[in-house]
Amino acid sequence: MKDLSVTLSGVKLDNPIIPASGTYGFGQEFTPYYDINVLGSLSFKGTTSESRFGNPTPRIAECPNGMLNSVGLQNPGVDHVIAHELPELRKIFRKPIMANISGFSIEEYVRCVELLTQEEQVELLEINISCPNVHGGGMAFGTNPEAAAQVTRAVKKVATKPVYIKLSPNVTDIVSIAKACEDAGADGLSLINTLLGMRIDLNRRKPVLANVMGGYSGPGIFPVALRMVYQVTGAVKIPVIGMGGISTARDVIEMMMAGAKAVEVGAANLVNPYACKEIIEQLPVEMEKLRIDKLSDIQRV
Ligand code: SIN
Repeated sequence: MKDLSVTLSGVKLDNPIIPASGTYGFGQEFTPYYDINVLGSLSFKGTTSESRFGNPTPRIAECPNGMLNSVGLQNPGVDHVIAHELPELRKIFRKPIMANISGFSIEEYVRCVELLTQEEQVELLEINISCPNVHGGGMAFGTNPEAAAQVTRAVKKVATKPVYIKLSPNVTDIVSIAKACEDAGADGLSLINTLLGMRIDLNRRKPVLANVMGGYSGPGIFPVALRMVYQVTGAVKIPVIGMGGISTARDVIEMMMAGAKAVEVGAANLVNPYACKEIIEQLPVEMEKLRIDKLSDIQRV
């Protein structure tokens, strides 16, 4: 019997598979396909203080080995999430929930954390300082070490659950931002968010996305994500959740060999709704081939 369990800042997960925020909604869309309690945790759609309609369409563009999205943090707002989405999610999901929180000001992050940290089933807070699809917030905090540290310090003052800061790959030196968050008190880090990209429709001679640019995700970014996770885990002591293009059990093991303690699976859920379930089922098979008994025993290479 293989042991898939991992622990993030004292929170034990049955396995390291967490659907990435924005690719799994609040879980409901996946229940016709399988019992989502097979997951380790679930990072719900990035939530802001007020509801947001998101960016104009088109906001998805297909690409080789992945896709661009420019969703723009569409979400019903934190009060609705607490009043409606979390009670509904509780009916179908018994595992620890990771609350993904976005903002346009430090005050907004703080308000969302103050509210969501009180939710019993929310055991981990993921602070998204890396959304590439909005102006005046999102990635602006994640591309500057001092701004990243300010958000981290502010949310840590009000959080009663472990705080993971979600980092952007759209920077020259992700390690300096990771270290700034660690020094400011982050309990852990999530990386990477999407890579800023663009496509042009040749016939229309216009960008495919109404917002012109969007975030690239999918298997094409896996080597970039792996490299960044490896660099960051070599420089910080806090746990790192690795993500970016993971679509197989072997990718999970590779990401853990780069130093990640758990992983998030994103774009793969949009291609194959069974992706997380299949990865979880395949993990023991790949562990057997690689003579790994406990996933948490995997050492950074
Ligand atoms: C979005 O809603 O635009 C995606 C969220 C993100 O990339 O952080």
